[in-house]
Amino acid sequence: MAAPTLSTRGRTAPASPIRRLTPLADAAKARGITVHHLNIGQPDIATPKEMVEAYRRFDDEVLAYAPSQGFAVYREKLARYYDAVVGEQPAIEPDQIIVTAGGSEALLFVVGSVCDPGDEILVCEPYYTNYAGFSHLLSVNVKPVTTRAEDGFAIDPAAVAAAVTPKTKALVLPSPGNPTGLVLSRAQLEALAAVCREHGLYFVCDEVYREFVYDGSGLAPSILALPDFDDHAIVIDSVSKRYSACGARVGNLVTRNPEVRDAALRFAQARLSPATVDQYAAMAALDTPASYFEDVIERYRERRDTLVSGLRRIGVDTVTPQGAFYLVAPLPVKDSDAFCRFLLDDFDLDGETVMLAPASGFYATPGLGQNEVRIAYVLGPQKLERCVSILEAALKAFDG
Ligand SMILES: Cc1ncc(COP(=O)(O)O)c(C=O)c1O
Repeated sequence: MAAPTLSTRGRTAPASPIRRLTPLADAAKARGITVHHLNIGQPDIATPKEMVEAYRRFDDEVLAYAPSQGFAVYREKLARYYDAVVGEQPAIEPDQIIVTAGGSEALLFVVGSVCDPGDEILVCEPYYTNYAGFSHLLSVNVKPVTTRAEDGFAIDPAAVAAAVTPKTKALVLPSPGNPTGLVLSRAQLEALAAVCREHGLYFVCDEVYREFVYDGSGLAPSILALPDFDDHAIVIDSVSKRYSACGARVGNLVTRNPEVRDAALRFAQARLSPATVDQYAAMAALDTPASYFEDVIERYRERRDTLVSGLRRIGVDTVTPQGAFYLVAPLPVKDSDAFCRFLLDDFDLDGETVMLAPASGFYATPGLGQNEVRIAYVLGPQKLERCVSILEAALKAFDG
């Protein structure tokens, strides 16, 4: 008799720093403690009624598969959504879109389409940690370019160029950024696009937070609007954050590069189909009025300002995020992982505590981010004020 054995890949898969401490949070809840979840980008904002009603309306007799690339009617409507995103550039065609199970599956298909095992993707750390998860699954290496709080987490194109090796296939960046909140300007996108052109890299721009920009300038600039960049540009998108509909699990990729599109489509065919009912709902979500976004963006701006000023009041100085709904906070502790565990295991303020994400998991360079946490400002201002008070008391009580 011989025991079956796991793959090395399976044994060494990294646990997500966003969800890794969930068992401790569950145990705290079982002890009757209220846990405020600032560890994950799960907003409490209501999903638009257009979308919710579409779920209620569903009455197909058979809940059938959808086409692998997504329903044509949905992709047509989605293509028109991109009109405002691409500006002067040629309009996006429905065939340049593949509908996926969230932005997550789009990332998996894209990294699988452009990288072989042993290839590298470049990320700017602190980075969206799940890029490591998808890359690990595909035996692709994540190569970090470090950005720093003292520079506002700005990305230096020369540092990106210097990190390129013969194994580098793509630059993978979110804008607006998770966890930094950095919004790349059109000029910054151009500078990074120039690096990609020079070194023959794809630019995978994760634009799932496109609407969440707080300086009043409207949508975050998109790589789809860059001229002469069609072979390089691959956009990751999702309804999760845009419509506060994380559970719908509908995302998509967009590329004008037919080779990338065909490769991704073969992966899409292998998994048969994206969800049917959720696509109907995502299609209805495109009818959400502009007033919904005006309100939501204003609410996030207020949340951001409440959290940033609250943290500064208790001596935690953070870079003010320009977009998305996260920030990286340096804490007066040596080991933020131990502090996050302490918050869940050993601490409460009148029966309440806070769950945060230790930031070391958002860095690929060992040793970085040890004293930092990522905080998602996905709760209302009053709750955020309360969370800051809980943090203040916990920092006083924590020995480390
Ligand atoms: C930057 C970024 N990209 C992609 C995703 C994937 O989201 P989903 O799979 O829900 O579309 C997230 C989720 O938090 C994210 O923050």
